[in-house]
Order: sequence, then C-alpha cells, then structure tokens
Amino acid sequence: MFDGQNGRMTVALGCDHAGFALKDDVLTYLESLGVSAVYCGTDSEESVDYPLIADAVCKKVQNGEASLAVLICGTGIGMSIAANKHTGIRAAVCWNTECASLARRHNDANVVCLGARMLDPDLIKAIVKEFISTGFEGGRHGRRVEMLNSLDK
Ligand code: RB5
Repeated sequence: MFDGQNGRMTVALGCDHAGFALKDDVLTYLESLGVSAVYCGTDSEESVDYPLIADAVCKKVQNGEASLAVLICGTGIGMSIAANKHTGIRAAVCWNTECASLARRHNDANVVCLGARMLDPDLIKAIVKEFISTGFEGGRHGRRVEMLNSLDK
C-alpha cells in the first residue's frame, strides 16, 4: 500500500488494555499489506488510561510521522473522544467496512477507532484494511471537511 509518491504508507497504532490482545495480530496484518506500522502502546494487559494512548497516536499523525492511525479500546468510543480533541484529527468509530469506507470517502477521517470488546478480530482487520485503502472523495465533502477544520478552536 502506498502513500502518494513517498513509498510505503505509515500507520500509527495504539490500544489500551482492552485491545492489547489484538495488537500483534493487527500489526502483522498491516505489515502483510505492505504498510509500515508505528506502535505507540500500551505494552501489557495492565490497565492503562486510553487518553494517554490516543494522545501519543494523534501526535504521530499531527507531526506527519503517520498518515493514518488505528486506535483500539473496549468500545472505540473513549479513544474517539480523546482523539477528536486534537487539532486536525478526524477520528471515526467504525463497526463495519461500510462505515470505514464512508469515514474515508466523505469525512476524510484520519483515525479509525475500534471496539475490541464489540467486534470480532477478523472484522477489525477488515475494517482496518478498508480504512487505509480508501481515499477521500473531495467535492462537496471537501467543503464540509474544511468546515470541520474551522471548528478547531
Ligand atoms: C476500559 O475498561 C474501557 O473503558 C476502555 O477500553 C474504552 O472502552 C473506553 O471507551
């Protein structure tokens, strides 16, 4: 998978304790798709506060080290709330591949948030693939995304 003319796409990944059991599977899957993955924690099953992980991952997108990111917690909801506090981040909770496609095509979402306690691991991987392989449509959606960006206060 390619990121414009710069070669391999880089995707940041982070999860809290709820997603920890899945992270190796998702990392391996990203590598199998030709994507460079940057893992931002957590590093054990020990309970951790998801806003810290969301912050580390979003900073990778904000500073250009990653073009897209994946965040996994129990529901995806806490991660999305934390991620959407960051300027320039458009995080979407997705529960199927259609959501993932629309989040990229219409919302230019740059972070996908997934619920490890809500979704089957194979579905999580399918959503990740759809998200990172789908582009933004622009057009009328470009105007709306600009409006979203102008809400960063
Ligand atoms: C952790 O127990 C859980 O609250 C967290 O993973 C996430 O689901 C929060 O939104």
